[in-house]
Amino acid sequence: MLKPSLVKELKVIVGPANLSTLPEELVVYSYDATQREALPWAVARPASSGEISEIILLANRERFPVVPRGAGTGMSGGSVPIRGGVVLSLERMNSILEIDEKDFIAVAEPGVITGDLQREVESRGLFYPPDPASHKFCTLGGNVAECAGGLRAVKYGVTKDYVLGLEVVLPTGEIINTCARTVKSVAGYDLTKLMVGSEGTLGVATKIIVKLLPLPEHVRTLAAFFNDVQCAAAAASDIMAQGILPRALELIDEAALRAVENYLKKDLSLGAGAMLLVEVDGSVETTAREADRVAEIMVHAGAVRIQRAESAAERDQLWNARRAISPALYTIKPKKLNEDIVVPRSKIADILREINGIAKKHELLIVNFGHAGDGNIHTNIMIDEADFPKAEAAAREIFAATLRLGGSITGEHGIGLSKAAYLPMEAGPGSIAAMRRIKQALDPNNILNPGKIFVNAV
Ligand code: MLT
Ligand code: ZN
Repeated sequence: MLKPSLVKELKVIVGPANLSTLPEELVVYSYDATQREALPWAVARPASSGEISEIILLANRERFPVVPRGAGTGMSGGSVPIRGGVVLSLERMNSILEIDEKDFIAVAEPGVITGDLQREVESRGLFYPPDPASHKFCTLGGNVAECAGGLRAVKYGVTKDYVLGLEVVLPTGEIINTCARTVKSVAGYDLTKLMVGSEGTLGVATKIIVKLLPLPEHVRTLAAFFNDVQCAAAAASDIMAQGILPRALELIDEAALRAVENYLKKDLSLGAGAMLLVEVDGSVETTAREADRVAEIMVHAGAVRIQRAESAAERDQLWNARRAISPALYTIKPKKLNEDIVVPRSKIADILREINGIAKKHELLIVNFGHAGDGNIHTNIMIDEADFPKAEAAAREIFAATLRLGGSITGEHGIGLSKAAYLPMEAGPGSIAAMRRIKQALDPNNILNPGKIFVNAV
């Protein structure tokens, strides 16, 4: 609970209309896509870095938590205010400030919807490649906080590869700029990279400068259907091994296919056991050549049917289906443990085999889909409430198998709350101690997003 005098002070900072303590409003800011929830004490909707700085200074004076929030689409609990405090909703800071067509950069506020930025730059022949599945809802600030990946990471990389610089409000209230607007800069420690992926614990990005690319001339999209997921995984590895670098290479297993077909009430696969969705981009000629080669490789690997998207509408239909998998899985069970392990891409078939064994051992349904091109698979352990303990045991075994194969326990969703208990499986005690020291140095009063990333975070 916030003292009435503090509510008053916060109202002076953001304006009375932008500070709420009404229970029905607080609920709206209490959860993310993990289904975890905790009520904040208040929600503030600032309009500038100055207001954010003032809120944070007040929080340091009075020692209350401040939890930055974008659209709440995160998948590790990063924006859930588990210690209460003030949710700092960045929804009003939603302007694209600049698109510089000469320098190939865009400057945006954190509340800009990622898909809006993509569309805006594309209308000018430019390209912002990071493409989280939730691009129609998620915000750039959230993408920066979590270092979001998405569908095009296989060729173009993830959010951190595009953020050139940030204006950041530090947990102690200072406003800093982390970089110039240039493609290169080695002036001191790379604070930009430190901030990207810091899960709202080290600073609040209030201005985001991103690198843009020229919009590829042409795109071709193919779907291939297989009898089983092992064949599809082998085909994905074969495509990469042949030196083709598609801009997307997505794998969808049978249970995910059935779920999304039921959800959208559409038969996409004619009963197939797995699907690969591949997209290549470049010139008209190179994409034609690469699409043919990809189709050949997939047939050779056992594809029973290839579907080429012949129009933008057909292409959108395929991608909309892919983007809908995550919500569609709730048609199977009311709860899921949605993991985002990543393995070296040659090891996808191995990890899928391991996961299958773990699912059988624990008598659990584990649904797999995701970014096969970069080895990042979403393993969804589908459960009822009562299955939670065995699902956690299965998750631990999946993480152990992933690490044995040279992978990482999270490719794009972050540690947040969901994976804090598992971080020590991957990061050694020395690394975790160094991370904690960074947090302590920047946020001595543990104001910003407390309780995340580290178990027993104070
Ligand atoms: C996706 O790729 O669809 C997202 O990361 C969401 C998810 O993992 O469910
Ligand atoms: Zn994903």
